[in-house]
Amino acid sequence: MSHNLFDLSGKVAIVTGASRGLGQQFALALARAGADLVITSRNVESLTTFKSELEGLGRRVLAVQLDVRDFMSIQTMAEAAHKFFGKLDILVNNAGCNVRKPALEVTPEDWDMVMDTNLRGAFFVAQAVGQYMVDRRYGRVINIGSVTCVSGYAGLAPYCASRGGVKQLTMSLADDWGPHGVTVNCLAPGWFKTAQNAVLYQDAEWVEYITDRIPLNRPGQPHDLDGAVVFLASDASAYITGQTLLVDGGISTGSTHAVPKRKGAAAPTPAPTPAPAPTPVAPAPPPMPVDASAAPGKEEAIAEFREAVTKEDPAIILEYLRALEQMLTPDEVTSYRQYTYLTAFAPNVKRVDELCQTGHWMEAKRFADEVRSGAELFEEVAALPAKIAATRTAFKDSLLKNFKEAFDREDMQRAMALLEEMDKTLTPEEAAPYAEMAREVLHAKKENLGVRFKMSMEDKDWIQALRVGEQLVKEFPNSAYAKEVEGMINKLRERAARQMGGKH
Ligand SMILES: NC(=O)c1ccc[n+]([C@@H]2O[C@H](COP(=O)([O-])OP(=O)(O)OC[C@H]3O[C@@H](n4cnc5c(N)ncnc54)[C@H](OP(=O)(O)O)[C@@H]3O)[C@@H](O)[C@H]2O)c1
Repeated sequence: MSHNLFDLSGKVAIVTGASRGLGQQFALALARAGADLVITSRNVESLTTFKSELEGLGRRVLAVQLDVRDFMSIQTMAEAAHKFFGKLDILVNNAGCNVRKPALEVTPEDWDMVMDTNLRGAFFVAQAVGQYMVDRRYGRVINIGSVTCVSGYAGLAPYCASRGGVKQLTMSLADDWGPHGVTVNCLAPGWFKTAQNAVLYQDAEWVEYITDRIPLNRPGQPHDLDGAVVFLASDASAYITGQTLLVDGGISTGSTHAVPKRKGAAAPTPAPTPAPAPTPVAPAPPPMPVDASAAPGKEEAIAEFREAVTKEDPAIILEYLRALEQMLTPDEVTSYRQYTYLTAFAPNVKRVDELCQTGHWMEAKRFADEVRSGAELFEEVAALPAKIAATRTAFKDSLLKNFKEAFDREDMQRAMALLEEMDKTLTPEEAAPYAEMAREVLHAKKENLGVRFKMSMEDKDWIQALRVGEQLVKEFPNSAYAKEVEGMINKLRERAARQMGGKH
């Protein structure tokens, strides 16, 4: 047994709703800890790129279609996952949705959609996967809840009700399955910026409002959840079940100011976003210069800069820094620049570093793009594209390796999916030889099937002719062979049925 309590090597984890947002982050965190993955979406094609990214980490990955509102779809997903891996160790019940409306405007359809997805769906996914865990007397179910498991928010009535239900469901399942070696916990994120609530984060006033209520003074970033999900999935949490772990920067404390804020007090400095472990935490920002008397308008510019810092958008912070710099002494410029770098840019630089080391080129690029405005001022930011380019080579190598492996296994479906991925990530010159290789093999396969079809026809082996013919139509629908087969398919079926009858 591994001595690392958080090691998930050899475990199989299902993450539902992994096409974007927190679901992808959960899957990444578990894969980095060693787990093989089953990832799901209602649109399985949307998982292709992410699947390759996970495979780039050396994990086995199965992408499966799943609509948690459809009972049969749940059963099919669980069976397919179990059949592929032979066991299921971890379930992250993440798929979820939301409807934001004042309670008086909520329709029965709104209510049903949220409840069916977040509560009914979570239960039946847990049930379908849990049966395999109970049989093996091992399992870790992690239901994704929310800070709304424990508190109410205006405009979120169905969502809060569904999340309260998830918390209760967690306790009930924990009691049910504890004797069978399966733990069930709820991981409850606070306020995180994802597609589900992107509209809120476009509203600067709202961001300020919510930030003010979070003791750690910033909304969450998806990687803030890495530690909690790995913990609940691992042996480190073996004796914990039925619990709800809030990862919310403290907002569930109730965070209400019980004394008036002191007038004229400095605006709180947002806590710097910590880089995920094992990256060391960024040093605390230097104290802000306070001499506001030297230049006219300087005090206002400092206030505006501080205000901009709370928005957490590097480009905006930089814009206000530039305006402020006109009024600063050289020493102050150095101090403000250093502060800006540590607050707005260093976390992303660290994150890109880490992602580059683990070969997550696409994610690294996303983080680098968020801070590219700082390239002119900060050499660490300017160096990011080169760093990523180097990692891209590693990424390309892993893509090509997977492609060749699929090719050697004659898994042409997988090889073609990887080819599509290459089209998106490689230059046409880089991708060309592989596309040519695939074309040649496909051609050979088509000809081989065509010859086998003709020979079966000549031998009057209608059963074989039908089998090969149907394969031709399925795999090469536009080929001349397929047209030929289609023209005679009914007759072939009759003949094959007669031949089959004769064989009994
Ligand atoms: N973002 C936050 O601040 C926050 C806070 C607390 C809790 N949460 C919860 O955390 C989970 C992920 O949140 P997110 O912000 O990442 O949301 P998101 O960006 O909207 O992603 C939701 C995921 O759920 C999947 N999904 C939605 N309806 C589904 C259905 N009927 N069947 C199967 N899959 C379905 C989506 O997949 P497809 O569309 O590809 O099928 C998508 O992958 C959700 O349960 C959410 O309620 C989020």
